[in-house]
Formats: sequence, C-alpha cells, structure tokens
Amino acid sequence: MILDKIESLLAEVKEMKASNAEEIEALRLKYLSKKGEINAVMADFRNVPADQKKEVGMKINELKQTALERLNALRDAIETSEDGDQGLDLTRTAYPIKLGTRHPLTIVKNEIIDIFSRMGFVLADGPEAEDDLHVFTKMNFAADHPARDMQDTFFIEQNPNDVTKNILLRSHTSSVQARVMETSQPPIRIICPGRVYRNEAITARAHCFFHQIEGLYIDKNVSFTDLKQVLLTFAREMFGADTKIRLRPSYFPFTEPSAEMDISCHICGGKGCGFCKHTGWVEILGCGMVDPNVLELCGIDSKVYTGYAFGLGVERITNLKYQVSDLRMFSENDVRFLEEFEGAK
Ligand code: PHE
Repeated sequence: MILDKIESLLAEVKEMKASNAEEIEALRLKYLSKKGEINAVMADFRNVPADQKKEVGMKINELKQTALERLNALRDAIETSEDGDQGLDLTRTAYPIKLGTRHPLTIVKNEIIDIFSRMGFVLADGPEAEDDLHVFTKMNFAADHPARDMQDTFFIEQNPNDVTKNILLRSHTSSVQARVMETSQPPIRIICPGRVYRNEAITARAHCFFHQIEGLYIDKNVSFTDLKQVLLTFAREMFGADTKIRLRPSYFPFTEPSAEMDISCHICGGKGCGFCKHTGWVEILGCGMVDPNVLELCGIDSKVYTGYAFGLGVERITNLKYQVSDLRMFSENDVRFLEEFEGAK
C-alpha cells in the first residue's frame, strides 16, 4: 500500500503547476516541508517489511527528487517568463556589478595632462560653440585671409557685416588661450584640453570632430629653447626615455616662427618601418612662439612679454600609443573595442 501511495504522489508532483512564487511556496509546503506529504511517507518507512525496504526506499528517493526538480523548473519558468516580475527575487544579490572601462581617449588625455601638470601647467576650459573673435580674429587670422580655410568648421550664426560676431564650433582650443589672455596677465602657463570641430569628410584618417590639448606659456624672457625642452620632456615621458624629437618649419597665423614636431618612430626605433612610412619619424604636434600680434590683440604687452604655444591631437597620440587603425572606432561605442583598454590606466 505504501507503494501505491508513493505512486500516486509521484503522479501528483509530476503534474504540479504554479503561476507565481506564492503558489510554488504552497506546493513546497504541501510536499517537501517537515509536515509535508513526502515526510509523512518517510515516517511510514519503518513499518515496511525488511525485504521491501530497498524497493520502497528507492521509490521514496525518486519521489523526493522529482518533486525538487519540478519545483525548480517551475521557479525557472516564472523568472524567465515575460511577466516574470511576479517571481522577482528582491533578495538576490546585485553583485558582482560589471565595471566599465575608461575610454582610450580619456586615458591618453589624462596622461598628457598629468605630464604637463608636473611641469607647472594648469587646466583652462572654454565653450565649444564660440565666436569668431576668439577662434580666429584674436588668433591673428585676418578676416579675408586664406588661413581660415585651414580650419573650416561649422557655422551656427553668420553675420555678414562683422565676421568677428559669427558663432561657430571651435576649430581649435586656441580660443581658450585667447579668453585666458584677455582676462589675466603673465605669467600664464595653461593647457586647454577639449573637443574641436572641422568641416572634413569622415574617413579612417579624418573626422569632423576630434580632441586637442593646446598649451600656452607667456612670461618675461620665454624663448624657443624653453619650448623645445618642454616638448622634449613631454615626448620622453609619453613615448619613452630614448625618444628623439625634430622640429620642421611650418606656418600658423598665431605663431612666428612656427614648427611641426616629429618624434622618432617608437615602433622601429627610428630605423624606418611601415608605420612611419620608412622615414623613421612621425608627426605629433604643431608649435611656435606666440605672434606679438596675438599678444597685443589679447591685451598683453608684446614689448615686455614673449611666449610659446603648442597644440596636439589626442586621437593622434592615442593612435601612436595603441596603433588604432581607424579613427572612427573612437566614436562608434563598440564595447568590444572599448574593452580592449581594460588593462590600461
Ligand atoms: N591651433 C593649431 C591647430 O589646431 C595647433 C597649434 C597650437 C599650433 C599652438 C601651434 C601653436 O592646428
């Protein structure tokens, strides 16, 4: 008879149904709790004749196992069903929370800021939507000078009678330098990180926005030698102690003389490879002595003070450091790409 009882319980538990956590708990109480049906059968076990104990014992185990499995299956079904919030387990731990990673551009930007901070530069900030006055005019771009084409950007408001009032997306963070010079007197030693915009077709090598860090130092007796030494120190901190630099003459409206700086290719050590197009050098930034016109336009006496400025692209430095082949990856939000930088700082 005990076997009949077990068989009928087995049939029942196989058919157990529940649509929420409370019903599951009721079933658990009915069959599997201390005072439940299965325990009652087990209590009867001692009355079973010795020669049947083995068979009955195995049947009871099967019953218990089946009941447990069925309850677990019902729980799973409720948790994964569409209106599964009925089975929501608010006591379940939320840990471990998956941590994100810093964006590679943030990692490199912070590293650059860190290097210049140690040399006494302080951070300065300004708006991305700027007026022509600070982006171009005070940086010594004449209203009709073709140099403005070097930095074509996006215009928000155009003022045909007075270009200095045009509102545009800044094409470099030199506008922040103009704002700082306007409102303070030397010594000025700042770095200006931020997003800048250019009217460029989007390709693997160019984008309509990127990130810059520009530096400016103005004081009495600041010379080109000071500029060169600061940039050499930066290059060595960033790319390794045996990095060499070279300066090539260049043109910017706001600096005179102007130069482009290359570093010895850190991939081949300067011997020449595919990365440096077999020249042994890679270009990393523009720099020069601040044009006296810029100082005057911003209210600083160019007979008393001199200064240098430099500007670098964070994407460019990041590419050099991590060899990212396509600029677009920086703004596509592809987690697989971003997770690559998990181990970086
Ligand atoms: N403003 C320049 C640019 O965006 C970079 C630069 C800054 C060059 C300062 C020289 C000195 O192209």
